[in-house]
Amino acid sequence: MEKIKIGIIGTGSISVEHIEAYLKNSMVELYAFCDLNENRLNTMAEKYNIKHTFTDLSEMLKLKEIDAVSVCTWNSAHAPCAIAALDAGKHVLCEKPMSVSEEAAKAMKESAERNGKLLMIGFVRRYGNDCKILREFIDSDYFGDLYYAKATYLRRKGNPGGWFGDKSRSGGGPLIDLGVHVIDLVRFLMGNPKPVSVYGATFKKLSDRKNIKGKKFYRASSASENDICDVEDLATAMIRFDNGAVLSIEASFSLNIKKDEGKIELFGTKGGAKLNPELELYSEINDYLADVSLDAETSLSFDGLFAEEINHFVSCILDGTPCISPAQDGIEIMAILDAIYKSAETGHEVIL
Ligand SMILES: NC(=O)c1ccc[n+]([C@@H]2O[C@H](COP(=O)([O-])OP(=O)(O)OC[C@H]3O[C@@H](n4cnc5c(N)ncnc54)[C@H](O)[C@@H]3O)[C@@H](O)[C@H]2O)c1
Repeated sequence: MEKIKIGIIGTGSISVEHIEAYLKNSMVELYAFCDLNENRLNTMAEKYNIKHTFTDLSEMLKLKEIDAVSVCTWNSAHAPCAIAALDAGKHVLCEKPMSVSEEAAKAMKESAERNGKLLMIGFVRRYGNDCKILREFIDSDYFGDLYYAKATYLRRKGNPGGWFGDKSRSGGGPLIDLGVHVIDLVRFLMGNPKPVSVYGATFKKLSDRKNIKGKKFYRASSASENDICDVEDLATAMIRFDNGAVLSIEASFSLNIKKDEGKIELFGTKGGAKLNPELELYSEINDYLADVSLDAETSLSFDGLFAEEINHFVSCILDGTPCISPAQDGIEIMAILDAIYKSAETGHEVIL
């Protein structure tokens, strides 16, 4: 079988994960790079020995030999870049969040359908070892009816700066950047129930905490001293699904807590679980309350995580494998995110 040729749109931080994963896949030839930032483009092209480089996406998309692209730009460019690539007849793997609105996400799916091409969303947590283990327990009915879940992704001082704090390019703050990962993971684990209502609140109280002295904090490659910060620094929401289950979510870039944390908790009629980051299971054994930890690697391993996602994308294209993170799921997550922001603005529940 002939190798498929891949183009990368946006050669910033996350593109490295995509590139390294493509390089490990024997059915792929990494073919072309595109970035608005010529310096970054050239540095990356030199590092990975890529001959075809573009600062104008429309020029790259004229290359008929490109079969598929990864969209790794900032969030507001996901929809225009993905639609341009789909309209040019390329399959698309688009980073999370799918876009900056449900409306844009729907336009992306329409473009994929119109052109008969795959649009896969990079919900990378679906491809994690921890997700697979939880799925095994769910499939064997360990939890019974899963009716409640909590997901938190909290940073004490973790606004990366650059475009992440600029709403016009990010679409929002920690909710759309971090919350999206855990909302999607929980919904996926629950079997993708449809969201029916949302109540949310967002806060802009601490901003990006540029004033904080002391240790060095993570900053995005695009960060500078003059970055604007007009996104929320904390978001919290209750999401109700059509199967009666409810998910409570919290995500922050800035918050007065002791330690950063990222965890999910699942509560069912027969058992519960906490992933923080190791998995603990809670149930009853012979009418005693019992806590179980597995003799296995249960915390999320980044080793090979993106390779799982990229290999799936390639297999969907080449073998027709059904996509496990399709555009429709991206749309539903965008509908949830839009509703949380709307509820935060109006102070009322939003019915979906
Ligand atoms: N899956 C994950 O765990 C994960 C982790 C980090 C980031 N991300 C996502 O990846 C995306 C990129 O994040 P990043 O941290 O790599 O950002 P980044 O700033 O390092 O890189 C983004 C690049 O996109 C380029 N770009 C923007 N618009 C463009 C356009 N129209 N055409 C060509 N290039 C364009 C920018 O010049 C920049 O070099 C975001 O959507 C982010 O949410 C996902």
